[in-house]
Amino acid sequence: MERPAWAPRSIDISVPSVSRIYDYYLGGSHNFEVDREAARKAMEFMPGLPKIMQANRAFMRRAVSFAVDEGITQFLDIGSGIPTFGSVHEVAQAACGDAHVVYVDHDPVAVAHSEAVLAGNEGAGVVAADFRKPQEILASPEVQRLIDLNRPVALLLVAILHFVEDADDPYTAVAELRDALAPGSLLLLTHASYEGIPLPAERAEGAVDVYKDIRNPLIMRSREEIARFFEGYDMVEPGLVAMPHWRPDTAPEDEDPYAFSGFAGVGRTA
Ligand SMILES: C[S@@+](CC[C@H](N)C(=O)[O-])C[C@H]1O[C@@H](n2cnc3c(N)ncnc32)[C@H](O)[C@@H]1O
Repeated sequence: MERPAWAPRSIDISVPSVSRIYDYYLGGSHNFEVDREAARKAMEFMPGLPKIMQANRAFMRRAVSFAVDEGITQFLDIGSGIPTFGSVHEVAQAACGDAHVVYVDHDPVAVAHSEAVLAGNEGAGVVAADFRKPQEILASPEVQRLIDLNRPVALLLVAILHFVEDADDPYTAVAELRDALAPGSLLLLTHASYEGIPLPAERAEGAVDVYKDIRNPLIMRSREEIARFFEGYDMVEPGLVAMPHWRPDTAPEDEDPYAFSGFAGVGRTA
């Protein structure tokens, strides 16, 4: 297989990656046949997967605009992925010219592509780091340079926590991040769940098994388990809801039934 210029030499391009599979669902071009094969296999069980991803991105954009309207100008996006149309820095900097954005991902393609997209953007940077080590993220030169932790920050954990197993204690990492944030900071979160999927559970499980097979298990949590990530935050209206119900710009009735899979919410630290 030929290695394109955007693929860092360090990566094994015969192994699928979560961020490149997601890029494929969203119609991006930073993916390989192994990624497309895994995505197509998952879509045999859940043909509407791309609709879920589109609803996730649409929530993310609405929530970033909400944060700017609340006066927030700093964004820490962990599990930021491969930048594609309507990324956080585009939405935030269009609404507020001097917004600062730091992307964090552990996937080398996501990091390399973010660096390329952000070259020359003084207000944005990228950190190659793992969510499971929040202190490393907070101490990184990019966070130190671009984010003033004494002022409110919007922390994005959008479509990442369902890749973190309980054994890796995501609740403690989320709490450590919360404790580093100034009062008035926001947590913007989405998470996969069997709740809301317009299919019998066995079909959805088939798609989940594809992620298990590529050794990036998808951890489906209940609404109650997802709500626990907001400990120490006050929920912003309308609370933890299906993505199309979070401050929609278009009528939720017009959305594809798959868009109602999983949950989205925004919390504010007191
Ligand atoms: C489904 S994508 C979501 C991208 C973006 N947040 C969005 O919602 O459009 C999940 C991203 O989380 C990243 N990720 C998964 N586990 C991670 C971890 N432990 N540390 C850092 N990034 C992680 C993956 O590499 C991938 O880019």
